[in-house]
Amino acid sequence: RRVILSGIQPTGIPHLGNYLGALSNWVKLQKSAEPEDKLLFSIVGWHALTLPQDPAALLAARNDMLAVLLAIGIDPDRSILFHQDHNPHHTELSWILSCITPMGKLRRMTTWKSRLAAARNSGSEDMVDESMLNAGLFMYPVLQAADVLVYKATHVPVGDDQQQHIELTRDIADIFNRTFKGTSPLFPLPTYVNTPSKRILSLKDPTSKMSKSSPDVQSRILLTDIASQIQSKIRAAVTDSIQGITYDPQGRPGTSNLLTILAACTDSDVTQVAKAYESQGHGTLKRDVAEAVEEFLKGPRAQFDRIRQETSYLDEVARRGAVRAIEQSEVTMMEVKTRLGLASPV
Ligand code: TYM
Repeated sequence: RRVILSGIQPTGIPHLGNYLGALSNWVKLQKSAEPEDKLLFSIVGWHALTLPQDPAALLAARNDMLAVLLAIGIDPDRSILFHQDHNPHHTELSWILSCITPMGKLRRMTTWKSRLAAARNSGSEDMVDESMLNAGLFMYPVLQAADVLVYKATHVPVGDDQQQHIELTRDIADIFNRTFKGTSPLFPLPTYVNTPSKRILSLKDPTSKMSKSSPDVQSRILLTDIASQIQSKIRAAVTDSIQGITYDPQGRPGTSNLLTILAACTDSDVTQVAKAYESQGHGTLKRDVAEAVEEFLKGPRAQFDRIRQETSYLDEVARRGAVRAIEQSEVTMMEVKTRLGLASPV
């Protein structure tokens, strides 16, 4: 039996990278799961706090993300759909795991290293240490490990930017299992499940991934973008001046990114898509990509507009999700505490 768990930060409406790289896979997994598989999908409000948040905007973003997940087809009867911050077991386990996680492992996380590099670039000469960054950013992967382990998840579908965090989760689980032996290892080592579609890149700078934090709104397509916005963003996408279309992620990242998007939106194979456009120009490719993206997004967009208005339904889904999530994690927490000497054996 598999326990599949994933999470997304409530940092605004998801973009095409989140959707194709992660969320669409959640829906596919939900469809293909065996009846005995357990599925949990979480909106990770506590992770969002590692960056400054406006409270009103965060509240709205948490609700919007719930509406998005319902709109794209997460079924709250099949999957446990919940707000991470509604289940205190995540933070409780996170503290316990932080006490067995070596600092050196956290320093090696690329997400931490890139934050540090960004802080160093923006700081003055004498501010070249970690003092500008909050401790939450450093501890972020431990909380993520707790998200996974508190449900004894076996499979974690995420984009490749999260692979290192899942590897760390396995390390932490293994340290726990070896330190607190008991009769059998407590935590299964979770498997990283990569999405079939590759990393989606920024439309403006195809050497970096499409991201919510880029200041250039033209660099990403949001789930709520309408046809005209999609068209203008794709038309303005950075490509290259090479004749014809080929799939060459190293040499032609912009063109290849458009092919990746087209293949993902039409559920086809990228090399076959590339072959079909071999003798075409960028104009034709862009036109077809824009059409495919619009076709792909219009259903979820309409659903989102509808569900977003239904606030009492959203509250009910969140409440039910929290109850079901806590029910699952309670068992793990009792076992953890017993092994640590924080509770009597049950
Ligand atoms: P987050 O919120 O940054 O992203 C959510 C998911 O989207 C994927 N993703 C992408 N995939 C392809 N191309 C892109 N340009 C792109 N941008 C984002 C991410 O890989 C992710 O799967 N730390 C996590 C959230 C988290 C989590 C967890 C995930 C917290 N706890 C437990 C799994 C299990 C994050 O920040 O994802």
